[in-house]
Amino acid sequence: MGRQLCFALLTATAGLLVGCHDGVGPDGFDDDELRQQFALAPLGAVPQPPNDRASAERIELGRLLFFDPILGGEKDVSCGTCHHPAFAFTDGRQFSAGVSGAGLGPGRVLSVSAISGLSIAQTPRNSPTVLNAAYNADSLGQPSHAGLQFWDGRAVGLEEQARGPIMSRTEMAGDAYPSGVARDSVVARLREIEEYIARFRAGFPVEAASLPGSEVITMDTYGRALAAFERALVTRNAAFDRYAAGDNGALSGQQKQGLELFFTTARCSQCHSGPMFSDYSFRVIGVPQVGSGGSVIPGDDVGREDHTGRVEDRHAFRTPSLRNVELTAPYMHDGVFATLEEVVKFYNAGALPRHDGIGDAALDTLVASGLGMSDAQVAAVVAFLRALTDPGSGLAPQLRTVPASVPSGLAPVFGVRTP
Ligand code: HEC
Ligand code: HEC
Repeated sequence: MGRQLCFALLTATAGLLVGCHDGVGPDGFDDDELRQQFALAPLGAVPQPPNDRASAERIELGRLLFFDPILGGEKDVSCGTCHHPAFAFTDGRQFSAGVSGAGLGPGRVLSVSAISGLSIAQTPRNSPTVLNAAYNADSLGQPSHAGLQFWDGRAVGLEEQARGPIMSRTEMAGDAYPSGVARDSVVARLREIEEYIARFRAGFPVEAASLPGSEVITMDTYGRALAAFERALVTRNAAFDRYAAGDNGALSGQQKQGLELFFTTARCSQCHSGPMFSDYSFRVIGVPQVGSGGSVIPGDDVGREDHTGRVEDRHAFRTPSLRNVELTAPYMHDGVFATLEEVVKFYNAGALPRHDGIGDAALDTLVASGLGMSDAQVAAVVAFLRALTDPGSGLAPQLRTVPASVPSGLAPVFGVRTP
């Protein structure tokens, strides 16, 4: 990319005039060429399930469910506890604190089940943001209503994902009921609340025509309502988006340098590609393991293998989107890195510090050798990552705030453990 001559001219009438030859701006970058060379593109239309357009009523129902601790066995945790608007729809923690927790975000403290008195552990993985999860891609890497959810891609689509947390003892069920009856128990609870019956009937008129009264409330309509809300949580007004759309001033010179590095020397775009900054491939990049891990190897998290059972998938995790990454620290499946600087330095050093159980042969070749970037270049890549931030400037206020009340009458988010 040629750096062209720029000129500055002080005139009596127009003040300082800055101009450049051949499309190169005052900061020395040819913005049109950057946009073209790296095919910078905005997010497309939100992928929706076929023949299932969500109405405003359904989205509002999904929002109320999302923040209602009635979904928690012990009524002390909601989806919004771990995906809270104040933390860009994450919880700002290394590991999530679900059942028995009091407080919010990094200050939330776990205790014991109110029912059994047994202790409740943190989750083994870091909570990702739900913002833009609507674009998570399918196994072919295409944004899809059937996108693969979770760090190991084990759930297909937001509807299926939403049926998971209510079954997990640590996340939402607690010791109120065994996992096997959690879904029926949640449906039974919702069917007892008049406001939910009315809202499910309004949100699912087609189903309501054949399912009388509270019967319209099923695991199917429950999942679709939550998914409809999540598909409304789309943010497409980051500085990067404005730049991609032609606003040359949306990025600083340092961010443009970072963009260039991201797509070239730093190799980031070989995995973090497209408008979501992910190709949704599962990769072994050698992130050090902390936390309780999974069940395959005690104390370790084998990632995708946990779901597929294939040894080839050991320690492979889904390449995450980088949208809003500035707001979702700490980083990686186990939140092992506190800052974006740490993450970029990890790549710069050739995946160091490394998981001690991942040898050179297993490691992805893209990250095995270091990048040789200077401190200034590392800082530029970090500055570029901060251009991907939009926590919802274009969203209607009710989509980025906790509702004042929820149909169960419990305190939104906190439930029976209201501070
Ligand atoms: C106790 C905290 C906690 C609660 C409660 C919780 N989640 Fe999560 N959520 C997580 C964690 C941790 C992950 C990542 C787990 C994994 O990848 O194995 C996650 C992952 C997700 C994802 C996947 C995002 C992606 O990009 O892959 C979605 C969507 C989601 N949660 C929605 C919900 C919904 C809807 C509810 C309520 C029904 C909910 N969560 C309840 C902690 C929580
Ligand atoms: C080989 C593919 C690959 C390359 C190349 C790559 N990444 Fe990643 N990236 C991943 C995977 C996979 C993860 C998740 C790993 C985990 O959690 O164990 C990840 C995680 C991240 C995260 C954490 C996001 C979060 O929400 O926790 C950031 C930030 C990140 N990468 C930035 C970068 C940058 C910047 C570069 C270039 C310097 C880069 N990546 C290069 C695959 C890649």
